[in-house]
Amino acid sequence: MNTPRKLHIKSYGCQMNVYDAQRMVDTLARENFVETDSVTDADLVILNTCHIREKASEKVYSELGRLRESKDAAARDGRDMKIVVAGCVAQAEGAEIVKRASVVDVVVGPQSYHHLPDLLRRAARDGRAIETEFPVEDKFTALAQPQPATIRARGITSFVTVQEGCDKFCTFCVVPYTRGAEVSRPVAKIADDVRRLADNGVREITLIGQNVNAFHGEGPDGKSWPLGKLLHHLAAIPGILRLRYTTSHPCDVDDSLIAAHRELPALMPYLHLPVQSGSDRILQAMNRKHSVADYHRVIDAFRRARPDMAFSSDFIVGFPGESDADFAGTLALAEQIGYASAYSFKYSPRPGTPAADMPEMIDTATMDQRLAQLQQLIDRKQSDFNAACVGQTLDVLFEQPGKRPGQIVGRSPYLQPVHVMASADIIGRVLPVTMTALERYSLFGELHLDSKQGDPTQIAQDLNETTSLVATTGA
Ligand code: SAH
Ligand code: SF4
Ligand code: F3S
Repeated sequence: MNTPRKLHIKSYGCQMNVYDAQRMVDTLARENFVETDSVTDADLVILNTCHIREKASEKVYSELGRLRESKDAAARDGRDMKIVVAGCVAQAEGAEIVKRASVVDVVVGPQSYHHLPDLLRRAARDGRAIETEFPVEDKFTALAQPQPATIRARGITSFVTVQEGCDKFCTFCVVPYTRGAEVSRPVAKIADDVRRLADNGVREITLIGQNVNAFHGEGPDGKSWPLGKLLHHLAAIPGILRLRYTTSHPCDVDDSLIAAHRELPALMPYLHLPVQSGSDRILQAMNRKHSVADYHRVIDAFRRARPDMAFSSDFIVGFPGESDADFAGTLALAEQIGYASAYSFKYSPRPGTPAADMPEMIDTATMDQRLAQLQQLIDRKQSDFNAACVGQTLDVLFEQPGKRPGQIVGRSPYLQPVHVMASADIIGRVLPVTMTALERYSLFGELHLDSKQGDPTQIAQDLNETTSLVATTGA
């Protein structure tokens, strides 16, 4: 066997890119590549890029500048270092990338990762290879075939892609262009992945998709299944203790999803439901297809189904034409919902999107000021939420040893890191923990190693006990 070649991969952007990076590593493992943390030793460097905001996109070029030096240094040692640009910048800019950065050997769009070994051979032969087509049939076949890179377990938690692409066309967003039309994977394929992961020790699955609750994959009965039904199916797989899904669109929340939250103790009561703005006028200009009142209705429906439900969101400040009154609406909404966490971004015009051509760009100073104000509010809400957890008993899935000796770290239902002193054999188990202290974003607690563990009725009762959490941190 030849000595393995070394692969360094760097991912930017969303969870989909993290998942895709793992799939690329798994695909290339069959070509005798092993992963390395070091760029300088690498024979192959993959930048898995994000196009969502200008800053994200421009990062790629500064990184490519640094890689030029690494590649030259490798060449002086007699080694040939290949550079691949993958991800959404690859999709959006294609051959333009090579014009700006001649150091790049391969450009590959997110729909063509299964061709990577082939593209590397083509680059070795022809000096360069570029593939950013959107072969829709190809994608369907690739997804229907036994997955070339079946996902490998890497810990206690794992992402599984169930849906890709987006048909929503929010006027600020590049995703419908970089990831293409919405496609759902068949239920049987997803269940196979989840079963394999569970057999290898994975206890928590996060279903991912650019618009995950638009899922409509083919079920074993030949009918199209909504996400709620898929969640029921996956919750029955032995070994799966927790389920999550991200990212959702408020318009695609249906009764099946609300019912799943009511009926499945394994489905975590924490949801990322981006709203973007708290002004109806701006929501309309964004083509979000929902109003502020619609959003409140959806949140209320979740809270009725699971009173301990908490939420996170994304916000954009400074969308073209956003007035002080519009922004005040955003602050009011964030205050009313009382998010457990949220991300906020300054609007960044993206080439080819409708909003980029809208008049009334907001000046940078106003954007900066609004961002700071919103972030301050979000931070305050997050601190309130975390502080309200102290004294509560929450279920924690233990994932790994902590930094301090004897410490084990897990996550609460709300994804907060929770530290306890315990032996490592609790890793992979869900156990009730009474929270005793909060340090920044981390909780510390005392473990209850009693007979309650694994008893679903008791776990449901525990979750109900946390209801007051929402009551104290909500509106
Ligand atoms: N598919 C997900 C994620 C989209 S990108 C969703 O629908 O929510 C993640 C976030 O980036 C978005 O929710 C939005 O808040 C932000 N974003 C997208 N395009 C942007 C732009 N042009 N400028 C600033 N923020 C943007
Ligand atoms: Fe982008 Fe909107 Fe689709 Fe989310 S729903 S990926 S913000 S177009
Ligand atoms: Fe970025 Fe593409 Fe994800 S643009 S956010 S990596 S879908």
